[in-house]
Amino acid sequence: MSIIDELQSLQAEAAAAIADAADLAALDATRVAYLGKKGSLTAVLRGLGALSPEERPAVGKVSNEVRQALESALESRQADLAARALESRLTAEAVDVTLPGRRRAPGTSHLITRTVDEIVEIFAGLGYKVAEGPDVELDYYNFTALNTPPDHPARTPSDTFYVRDLTGEPTAVAGESDVLLRTQTSPVQVRTMENTKPPIYILSPGKVYRRDIADPSHLPQFTQIEGLVIDEGITFGDLKGTLEHVCRAIFGSDRRVRLRPHFFPFTEPSAEVDVSCGVCAGKGCRFCKGSGWIEILGCGMVDPNVFGYVGIDPERYSGFAFGMGAERIAALKYDIPDLRHFIESDMRFLRQF
Ligand code: DAH
Repeated sequence: MSIIDELQSLQAEAAAAIADAADLAALDATRVAYLGKKGSLTAVLRGLGALSPEERPAVGKVSNEVRQALESALESRQADLAARALESRLTAEAVDVTLPGRRRAPGTSHLITRTVDEIVEIFAGLGYKVAEGPDVELDYYNFTALNTPPDHPARTPSDTFYVRDLTGEPTAVAGESDVLLRTQTSPVQVRTMENTKPPIYILSPGKVYRRDIADPSHLPQFTQIEGLVIDEGITFGDLKGTLEHVCRAIFGSDRRVRLRPHFFPFTEPSAEVDVSCGVCAGKGCRFCKGSGWIEILGCGMVDPNVFGYVGIDPERYSGFAFGMGAERIAALKYDIPDLRHFIESDMRFLRQF
């Protein structure tokens, strides 16, 4: 076979291999097999040196044509394969915008959080600021400085959670007695009066803890909202007017409010506040146990003994305080028959609000 025939048959063979190359890697292998350093066309071209001077021009011309033809075939096949590779990647990664989206259930605040926020808003409108205190509290703030006698039943370990250290010993703080989980938000009153000069207008929402078994009307952990006002010339009339306004803002303007004498160690006089029953409009029904009234908070004028603990002059200042349970208020407002719903995280209940 002449060298020209050999070149032409190599060209045909290479052209077929190029056309057959299924992807860019196969194409590159084909290029190396024919045009690479050890490729078969390269081997033929190397042999040209041995030709006679007469043969050389014609063979040289054909070999150049063959090389150029293969190079351009490689180039166009490469462009072709690259375009196909891109296209199949685009197809594989395509986003089908006609597919229905996945719905995310947006979260909402818990009903108690919203109840607290709503009450804070009402008092913010009256100029009150929010004050906070620790959940883990000293006996001094939770009881002593609130004028609670040493033998008061609320101080017993059967009513109050006392904190113990790792040895199991009660955690006594030198000069300040035991550490406990606060049973009321009233200690925030004491902390605020200790470090703020009157006038004081604060609202203090927060969690409180009691050794109660959960039942429809009790929870071992619940939320209280405490209020405290200290200023010159504050009277029981101010307390009553404030609470009437707040009760109507929470429950509706048709509600009536009444105060009943009561006792709290840290207020004198003290009262419990009832709001007229929303179910029977005060006529008396099963919900209000026939009385037409529902108890919603405790309140009173700050006892001068409490002023004594915090160094406020009772001759110059007077004040009132009140405390309410957010769970109880939410239960009354939304007709929820069992407070345990608030802590059980049952979505069937929570979704309703
Ligand atoms: N701390 C009281 C309780 O837990 C509620 C209360 C009553 C708070 C009268 C007050 C108040 O500030 O003046 O039962």
